[in-house]
Amino acid sequence: MKDLTPARADLDPIEIASRDEISALQLTRMRKTLNHAYKNVPFYRKSFDDAGVHPDDLKTLSDLAKFPFTVKSDLRDNYPFGMFAVPQNQVARVHASSGTTGKPTVVGYTAGDIDNWANLVARSMRASGTKAGDIVHIAYGYGLFTGGLGAHYGAEKLGCTVIPVGGGMTARQLTLIQDFKPTTIMVTPSYMLNIMEAFQAEGIDPRETSLEVGIFGAEPWTNAMRTEVETAFDMHAVDIYGLSEVMGPGVANECVETKDGLHIWEDHFFPEIINPTTGEPVADGEEGELVFTTLTKEALPIIRYRTRDLTRLLPGSARSMRRMEKITGRSDDMMILRGVNVFPTQIEEQLLATKGLAPHYQIELFKDGRMDAMSITVELANSSGDRAELARALAGRIKDVVGVSAKINVGDPGSAPRSEGKAQRVIDRR
Ligand code: DLL
Repeated sequence: MKDLTPARADLDPIEIASRDEISALQLTRMRKTLNHAYKNVPFYRKSFDDAGVHPDDLKTLSDLAKFPFTVKSDLRDNYPFGMFAVPQNQVARVHASSGTTGKPTVVGYTAGDIDNWANLVARSMRASGTKAGDIVHIAYGYGLFTGGLGAHYGAEKLGCTVIPVGGGMTARQLTLIQDFKPTTIMVTPSYMLNIMEAFQAEGIDPRETSLEVGIFGAEPWTNAMRTEVETAFDMHAVDIYGLSEVMGPGVANECVETKDGLHIWEDHFFPEIINPTTGEPVADGEEGELVFTTLTKEALPIIRYRTRDLTRLLPGSARSMRRMEKITGRSDDMMILRGVNVFPTQIEEQLLATKGLAPHYQIELFKDGRMDAMSITVELANSSGDRAELARALAGRIKDVVGVSAKINVGDPGSAPRSEGKAQRVIDRR
């Protein structure tokens, strides 16, 4: 793989500023955001008043912990535009994330927000090893989902040639990758696996493609998956994180030179980790639920938004800004089996360590009598594999390392469900 470390001179100065400079900027911006939300969003005025806090109570960054949380249902309750802090004629764009039930969560952006977003995605792409003039294939979905357009504006801002493909139609993805010769692809990791496999099925070695960088996000994926894709394509696989409520892709991103977790762009987002049960902030380094406060958003300032994503904060490395470890999973995706907490990413690690099985999987939860039970659908990497032996091997690893029993169904190559966007890893039939 090529060394794609960006030149230090090309970074935004704040990326490598001192911690004191970053904190000072955060405090100024946090005060402004709290005031903006309090003044312009009835929901925040009420929630701060109910909690007996006022924006003037923020003297230091840690005072933020006195302010109440915002949760997804607050956005739903104020559907569609009730959380917006600017008049509708200043809202340049709306996105929405589809919930599993009911109405979508709606988010809005001023022209200034769109510009900040583009700059942060451009920064994320530069951290990933992409540079001006590169050809970028975008296979995140376009539309209300923030992935496609978020990536698109960032790639344009960086000065790339953008191929706005969108998700799906895998045969066409292959044609465009072969003919347009992009060096960067932006796509969910699960769809990347699907594309990888389609190349192999055509008898094309993915290493022969022009791709040098994959910027993968929108769902959890493991370091084992990174190795799988990097080896198959001879490319860098870099993690991008974000969520609609806070902005979209580009809230945090790994650096290609270190791949040691995702630097949070702390000049625009203030992270906290809380104990998900008590809501109390925990120290950096401790695992818990990620909470974000936006520092520059105009249309939709969000205060202490509970993401449900589980991770921990780490000190800066390639940049001064703090890192978050790769997301373990969402608290909503945590399965509790006979008292043991299990995340799909733990299953993914064990699957990828089992030679002879393909990296595709889906988990089903069901009732076995009164107990919860788990079955995992996987498939042979090639049809000559020994199903029974591979099922035993994977079940054994999961029992030893994760600590739960799972029934493993090993299907033919191609039989496990494939994703064209965010993969559905768990089906709950309980
Ligand atoms: O998925 C934004 C995005 C698009 C990020 C493209 C990266 C690339 P939502 O649809 O609102 O927004 O879903 C946000 O997806 O709370 C996480 O649970 C999950 N997620 C996003 N990125 C990652 C990642 C977009 N890199 C939710 N690792 C978040 C793990 C991720 N989970």
